[in-house]
Amino acid sequence: MSRHNDNRIIIFDTTLRDGEQSPGCSMNLEEKLRMAYVLDQMGVDVIEAGFPVASPGDFEAVTEIAKTVKNATVCGLSRAKKADIEASADAIKPALKGSTGGGRIHTFISTSPLHMKYKLQMPPEDVLEAVRESVTFARKFTGDVEWSAEDGSRTEDDFLCRCVEAAIEAGATTINIPDTVGYAVPEEFGAKIAMLFERVPNIDKAIISTHCHNDLGLAVANSLAGVQAGARQVECTINGIGERAGNAALEEIVMAMRTRPDLMPYENNINTTMITKASRTLSTITGFAVQPNKAIVGANAFAHESGIHQDGMLKHKQTYEIMTPESVGLNESSLVLGKHSGRHAFRKKLEELGFELGDNALQEAFARFKRLADSKKEIFEDDLIALVEDEVAHGNEAIQFVSLHIVAGSEGPQTAELTLRVNGEKETAKVEGNGPVDAIFKAVRAIVPHPDARLQLYQVHAVTGGTDAQAEVTVRLEENGKTVNGQGADADTLVASARAYLHALNKLLRKREGFNPQTASEAVAP
Ligand code: KIV
Ligand code: ZN
Repeated sequence: MSRHNDNRIIIFDTTLRDGEQSPGCSMNLEEKLRMAYVLDQMGVDVIEAGFPVASPGDFEAVTEIAKTVKNATVCGLSRAKKADIEASADAIKPALKGSTGGGRIHTFISTSPLHMKYKLQMPPEDVLEAVRESVTFARKFTGDVEWSAEDGSRTEDDFLCRCVEAAIEAGATTINIPDTVGYAVPEEFGAKIAMLFERVPNIDKAIISTHCHNDLGLAVANSLAGVQAGARQVECTINGIGERAGNAALEEIVMAMRTRPDLMPYENNINTTMITKASRTLSTITGFAVQPNKAIVGANAFAHESGIHQDGMLKHKQTYEIMTPESVGLNESSLVLGKHSGRHAFRKKLEELGFELGDNALQEAFARFKRLADSKKEIFEDDLIALVEDEVAHGNEAIQFVSLHIVAGSEGPQTAELTLRVNGEKETAKVEGNGPVDAIFKAVRAIVPHPDARLQLYQVHAVTGGTDAQAEVTVRLEENGKTVNGQGADADTLVASARAYLHALNKLLRKREGFNPQTASEAVAP
């Protein structure tokens, strides 16, 4: 038995794989690259970027992320099948070449009696052989191989020990024990990890990892129990997104360890001041709003409404505050530029915020910034981020917004006169609707018919405070089982709505035509 003495916890982020698997959370290449950039900057150790054999889109995403990520190890998921492992090996190749953080192949197979009998329909001895073969095969491509016992928390101890020992013997450097269906409770899950340290003779040759789902709301508690029992990698997602009730939330795990070093004296590489940015980037991309009372990243997580709490806070912050908003990057959005700021200052500010735009996109973004500065007294960092993300998203789309004129109010009919540029040609439609938003969306449909698409989500969010705040709108469209999210930002909520709808529609059309990584990757922020 050997428990790792090293107190460094490896943060393995699976937002782009397990997170993306949850309904409505699918992301295109450009969005995955944006998210991977933020995760890498934030300091996650491993980015699980996708399941390369699953689709050309997943393969492309893993490859592109492997090309661009600077520090994190990029990982591809594979079943215990040669074709899967080869696809992962091909996809992570750019990360194996050296200039980036390295590449990992993650291979898994179910080990619980229930899964072996009904899902795999394989006897345990065959599963054990598949563990050996898959890990041995994966090691031909990289020295960094992770093996997972799917449904590990419901696997019998004896068999789990045999599989873990075999996987390590075959060359696995990380052993992951998933609570696949979120069934475990913390004491039990911690005991499972401790049991492996007691019984598996070669356990000191690998890092033990947790991967907990949140079906009983215990994913974070189970992960921390696993760490306390000796696990040194935690698999998690931003905002806890993931299959069903989600995965363990990265921000909760990291902040629990930071806030209670007395009980959990562990270190990790996360720059916690980027947590809010990561959370917001993800919810903007997916349209999955974070519940207001969500720990760490919910809108109310640091709000003190009651008089007693406010009074206590004024006397001494620690009376009701166990961590500061600043520690998770929740600063008052800083005032950045004004009406008289020039192009040079604008470009410099964007660079500070992590955006490098080409000349045309920069020119257009600057013109929009000037228009915004005319209508809004103060421009904050969040305004610039929304504006530039909108510009990046809409830059070279086939259907582009040109202008909108709305008649709204209590004395209907509400009417939208919308002009779009469709493949370079201007087209206008004037349509009545049941309210201005309905009129706009009908006008888009009049210009570009798409009868099979259904609106699944329409969501408005104010970028900053004040009645002159920019609106950030998310629209989700569904067509024949495929869903896409679109975003738009503008000082005018209705213009932002039109832009968001068009963003989603452009994506839907690209999905119909097939995947084009070339155009997708050209449009991405660094
Ligand atoms: O939940 C799970 O078991 C998984 C594995 C593929 C690691 O996501
Ligand atoms: Zn999972």
